[in-house]
Amino acid sequence: MPIDINGIINETRGRNFELFEEHINPVFVKVLRTLGFNRSWVRGEGPYLWDETGTRYLDFLTNWGVFNFGRRHPAIRNALQQVLDSDFPGWVGFDAPPLAATLARELVKRMPPGLDTVYFSNSGTEAIEAAIKFARAYTGRPRTIHLAKAFHGLTMGSLSLNGEASFRRGFDPMLPDSSEVKLNDLASLGAQLAKGDVAAFVFEPIQGKGVNIASDEYLLGAQDLCRKYGTLMVCDEVQTGMGRTGRFLATQWVDNLRPDIICLSKALSGGYIPVGATITRRAVYDSVYDTMHRAIVHASTFGMGNMAMAAALASLSVLDDENLMERANELGARFRRGIEEMVPRFEFLKGVRQRGLMIAVEFGQPESMSLRAAWAMVNKMDENLFAQAIVLPLLDDHHILTQVAGHAMPIIKLLPPLNIDESDVDWFLAALEDVMVNLHRFPGPAWEVLKKLGSHALTAKRREGRVTAG
Ligand SMILES: Cc1ncc(COP(=O)(O)O)c(C=O)c1O
Repeated sequence: MPIDINGIINETRGRNFELFEEHINPVFVKVLRTLGFNRSWVRGEGPYLWDETGTRYLDFLTNWGVFNFGRRHPAIRNALQQVLDSDFPGWVGFDAPPLAATLARELVKRMPPGLDTVYFSNSGTEAIEAAIKFARAYTGRPRTIHLAKAFHGLTMGSLSLNGEASFRRGFDPMLPDSSEVKLNDLASLGAQLAKGDVAAFVFEPIQGKGVNIASDEYLLGAQDLCRKYGTLMVCDEVQTGMGRTGRFLATQWVDNLRPDIICLSKALSGGYIPVGATITRRAVYDSVYDTMHRAIVHASTFGMGNMAMAAALASLSVLDDENLMERANELGARFRRGIEEMVPRFEFLKGVRQRGLMIAVEFGQPESMSLRAAWAMVNKMDENLFAQAIVLPLLDDHHILTQVAGHAMPIIKLLPPLNIDESDVDWFLAALEDVMVNLHRFPGPAWEVLKKLGSHALTAKRREGRVTAG
């Protein structure tokens, strides 16, 4: 009897959290329950999700930037359907898959000049691992340089380039050869590169954690330093690529910036099938695959699968056909105007950092005495709490999924699908206004919820021994 997938989904509805808790990750379920993300989703379409009560939600979390084209995009589904219905075999192994070759050609067309060769994998972290190995092979050097607050994935190589100690804790030793420098600080980058043993400088043009935008001067200066000292520039566009910032790559906002390696993943296959791509110059690639004996010396069993390649080809078409980069710029500007217009009216609201539809809303210490006391109270309980005070009511009261931008930062991040419309932006702006009005009433119900959350956080910290009683 064929397996009844819809039957499984229906039968487990409501019990999925217990099942997940028992067999997968109980701590994560605790987090979901604490933050109110323990909802039963029944449907997803475009930028929307529906729960079992029929309530419609706006998804600005998009699984951390995967759904640039929304859910169930008809063109991407159609491409996948064609693969499923076709007899054409994938993963023969000893083969040169035509969909992969075509996708590589299409990606190269969208790259800065000179990047003409593609390695395909299955995730962002694998795209970075390939970049590290390629840079070591090409330069014959061991070291990498990464930025504070960097996030490049969580396998051992990319974890070694993580700029946040809490991710690395418990997993030492890292790759011994990566050093951290501060974003926009050319002097420290120069000092590291001058040692002459650095294979790669790995960076995100806009950091996912905190939406910190690298300045043009920094990136061009870093490029000069990398060229001077023979280091490859590896640009992680896993989150910023595929039109997210209003250009195909975020690096393409900077004239004459020509990284040696670009990493893509997330939205590349439209949210259906995992995929990763590491795109570089022929000479770099050839330094890895240098003899017939080593023709597949770096590879992955599931790389270049027909489903992933077809979904990615369809995603590229959707990006062009629907003018989504232009739309990202227009809609991003609408977010910016709306948020900036609110800043003078709300003491907690400090500003917006935005490029296309990669958006951070920043909060900070207010001026008035009573709100300052409230700010101090929540930050003392937990430095992550204030951003949760925004994310929670956005979800509970306004049915919008968002995320805290990173560890211990009063910033929330929005990564909406690129094909939302003006009414979706206005839905968010009205919601943010309401959340702000409520948080500026202290004492008030919004602060009671926060206190409750804060006491959960304190208890957890005490249990982990991160805070001593008293
Ligand atoms: C900039 C960046 N690089 C790499 C990764 C890792 O991607 P993955 O989770 O697919 O391994 C992420 C994931 O969030 C990311 O944001």
